[in-house]
Amino acid sequence: MKNIVCFGANSDIGKALLKILAEFEASNFFLLSREITQLNSLASELKLIGAKNVEVYEFDALKTDEALKNLGKIDRVDYLLICHGYLPKYKFFSEEELELVFRINCLSVIKIIEYFIPIFKNQKGGKIVVITSVAGDRGRKKLGYYSAAKAGVDAYLSALRQEMSDYRELQILTVKPGFVKTKMTEGLNGPFPASPEDVAEDILKAMIKNKNILYTPWFWRFIMAFIKIIPESVFKRLNF
Ligand SMILES: NC(=O)c1ccc[n+]([C@@H]2O[C@H](COP(=O)([O-])OP(=O)(O)OC[C@H]3O[C@@H](n4cnc5c(N)ncnc54)[C@H](OP(=O)(O)O)[C@@H]3O)[C@@H](O)[C@H]2O)c1
Repeated sequence: MKNIVCFGANSDIGKALLKILAEFEASNFFLLSREITQLNSLASELKLIGAKNVEVYEFDALKTDEALKNLGKIDRVDYLLICHGYLPKYKFFSEEELELVFRINCLSVIKIIEYFIPIFKNQKGGKIVVITSVAGDRGRKKLGYYSAAKAGVDAYLSALRQEMSDYRELQILTVKPGFVKTKMTEGLNGPFPASPEDVAEDILKAMIKNKNILYTPWFWRFIMAFIKIIPESVFKRLNF
């Protein structure tokens, strides 16, 4: 039976992923979020779908150390899923926003991973799944802090894969969604909107195939490949 730990379990993408994992195999779930009431109702849903046991814990990414301490000792972690994130309203040149975006989207993610690394080393394998974003592939105006924080995690995960390359049974999956219709994007009109369920299915497939990087939906790999090759002298004049 798998032990699945999910930070940001109340995120729309996280919830969709947890539901298909619960359907896929009977597992023990450790769910973390700031919203305990909502986590409790998710826990009941997961049990109905097939989860063996579900525990819920409070997690504020601005107090990650506290959350990790309260989580207590988990001896084995098969899947570590990191799904929380914060997309700021458009603000640039704001120290307060800069701190929030980096602490939630980048620092907490790295802290969580490093907390669990000894466990993964000890068990010589497992799966670490982190949701970053296509926004990390190239910084765009209005998304500067968010893009930079997500790019920071992408670079960290790439380094971690090399650091941990001796552990052949350890998968480190970077998930880069395009525009997904969730609480985070409510009221926004993004291109090619996907549903959290579509993204969750892609993630499960990528977990099964032991992939390193997943663009979801798949066509974002090509969109971003094109966006990345636009010369900076042209890109800086584009208005998107
Ligand atoms: N939607 C998109 O278009 C899109 C595209 C690319 C990447 N992503 C990424 O996908 C992931 C999931 O987001 P989503 O789209 O499913 O949006 P969502 O439903 O709004 O989920 C985001 C979650 O982040 C959590 N969060 C925010 N601030 C937090 C904090 N200080 N401490 C702990 N948790 C915090 C919230 O959890 P609680 O309020 O429950 O604590 C919220 O449920 C995020 O990493 C996001 O950046 C989304």
